[in-house]
Amino acid sequence: RDVGDPPRAAVGPQVLAHRGASAYAPENTLPAVDRAARLGATWVENDVQRTKDGQLVVIHDDTLRRTTDARRVFPDRAPWKVRDFTAAEIARLDAGSWFGAAFAGTRVPTLAGYLREVERNHQSLLLEIKNPELYPGVERQIVKSLADQGWLDARHLDRRLVVQSFDVDSLRTVHALAPGLRTAYLGRPATAELPAYASFTDGINPSYGSISTAYVSAAHGFTGPHGRPLSVFTWTVNDADTTRRAVALGVDGIITNKPDVVRAALPGS
Ligand code: G3P
Ligand code: CA
Repeated sequence: RDVGDPPRAAVGPQVLAHRGASAYAPENTLPAVDRAARLGATWVENDVQRTKDGQLVVIHDDTLRRTTDARRVFPDRAPWKVRDFTAAEIARLDAGSWFGAAFAGTRVPTLAGYLREVERNHQSLLLEIKNPELYPGVERQIVKSLADQGWLDARHLDRRLVVQSFDVDSLRTVHALAPGLRTAYLGRPATAELPAYASFTDGINPSYGSISTAYVSAAHGFTGPHGRPLSVFTWTVNDADTTRRAVALGVDGIITNKPDVVRAALPGS
């Protein structure tokens, strides 16, 4: 089955480092991307949002509270929404110390900087448009940023990039703006709805607990807009037993905070 896997991955599903290797480095940062690369993860997953002045940044929560020192640096700016801060303000924040002293001084990446790091590591990217309802027009901006950095050439489109979202409208927008770009829906539509999804998305990325062999097989029975069977990447799997069960379900990708653990549990490892 060809679901756009990098050529070296011959056996078993792809391993995708969730927010980078987020069990070992602060999520959605460049150290997490690099740790994933060192652990052999050919893919990383990230979350993209937008600053007050319209810059794209990589961060999961819609506030800066949990993963930066925003409360200390800007004590009077509660509730510290990402969209209420400029890129320059966010660039001052420490996005590593919360995770561990070894990561002090790590910054919230811009999407541009993040793309450069993933490219440098020859990794593929599962880019999540996070909270698109908060950021009108963010899809067009993301597509432009990808194009500006060479991520919409044939090589990237074929093997290196998937855009995902929980938001169907956002995926439809991406598909309309960049028809060559593969997308994946975060969730588990009913089997009867899969043909409709296959008209605009190439993959279904459901939580591990929501799927069965029959469901994965049903998804594989539909062809996405790029002529390949719908791919199924499941999340978030962080232990060997669950990895083996996910493999048995027939998934194409496993999204994990611990790419080393998942890789070690794959067939042939
Ligand atoms: O890639 C799946 C996963 O990232 C979706 O959930 O909350 O970690 O973005 P979340
Ligand atoms: Ca995500």
